[in-house]
Amino acid sequence: MKPLSELLQSVPGSLTAAMVQKGREMKAAGLNVVNLAAGEPDFDTPRHIQEAAFRAIQAGDTHYPPSHGKPELLEAIVAKHARDNGLTFSPDQILVTPGAKWAIYAALAVLLNPGDEVLVLEPTWVSYSPMIRLHRALPVSVPLEAGEGFRVTSERLRAHVTPRTQLILICSPNNPTGRVFTRAELEAVAQVAQEHDLYVLSDEIYEHIVYDGHRHISPASLPGMAERTVTVNGLSKAYAMTGWRLGWLAAPLAVARLARRYQTQSVTCAASFVQTAAVAALNGPQECVAEMVAAYDARRRFLLDALEEIPGLESGPVEGAFYLFARFTETDRDSLALSQLLLEKGLIATTPGIAFGRAGEGHVRFSFAASMDDLEKAVERLAQIVPQL
Ligand SMILES: Cc1ncc(COP(=O)(O)O)c(C=O)c1O
Repeated sequence: MKPLSELLQSVPGSLTAAMVQKGREMKAAGLNVVNLAAGEPDFDTPRHIQEAAFRAIQAGDTHYPPSHGKPELLEAIVAKHARDNGLTFSPDQILVTPGAKWAIYAALAVLLNPGDEVLVLEPTWVSYSPMIRLHRALPVSVPLEAGEGFRVTSERLRAHVTPRTQLILICSPNNPTGRVFTRAELEAVAQVAQEHDLYVLSDEIYEHIVYDGHRHISPASLPGMAERTVTVNGLSKAYAMTGWRLGWLAAPLAVARLARRYQTQSVTCAASFVQTAAVAALNGPQECVAEMVAAYDARRRFLLDALEEIPGLESGPVEGAFYLFARFTETDRDSLALSQLLLEKGLIATTPGIAFGRAGEGHVRFSFAASMDDLEKAVERLAQIVPQL
């Protein structure tokens, strides 16, 4: 047989997905596994959004929509950015995609040429570096330090800029660290981007999930940044709509035009009735989002308080998203071994810190997008197992 793609074979599969799958298999085999590996809201999609989709399907809203998105959804996204982010876009700067992940993929396709370098702040979401490699470009890790609260500074960024650097990729609120970048940190990103004429790709998928008065700021709203920033967002996390696959990018016109071309020659569009439901999500009542965030907040507080009582586990503040990135302070085991032991001995599925790059080593990510019941079980088991690790 002829060889298959060398490029694809060089890219690892997602460790998060592997841990979720292993947890599911153990559960199916009758074991009482608590799954804290998945980055997925445990809530059902709010009723009014479901109903908008039912109505749309029954009304025959089942044909190809415009490839770049339905006009009413483009308008809703423009209004959302004005309302929440202080950003002014015209509808032709938006591309609606099947999930934020595809928006990131499309943005990378537009922004990168082979051999370009992309600064990726580590710990980093598992998919960025493989996606960059699939565009024949190079992810360059900018390691952030747990001891410094995973803060980003202009010095750290500058130290990794080369003549091939094209893009800085950022994610705030952050998966996996739970950090929400401050204005000063975003200004540091903006400063380096402008100094070196770089683009910024800002993944804002966790924007609404913030705690303790932390506020998400879109880097595109900083002076001089609108023309060099691609903003990515979607409905998966805030509206508990992971399975619906709906995201978008908002970009300078030239970038959006090429991204639209890319979409016509790849996935074509996001599903038609899902786009109608997305209008209901964005333009409808927003209390559902606040209610889910309040529930995450209660779980976050419970988990932070409980872990504080367990010697050998340390967590920084969780400012946003629904992850607790805990450091194991009393063991020499690496994070993969720790995650495996937590699963085998404690029946808790987690994601090892190494999945998020070398800067994540020594940590394990716990998702608290899980029921309080499950979190209580996990804490009991952790209290027993951590001292033995
Ligand atoms: C940081 C980050 N960006 C993007 C996504 C993907 O979002 P979507 O479901 O809209 O593709 C995820 C999902 O886990 C994520 O954690």
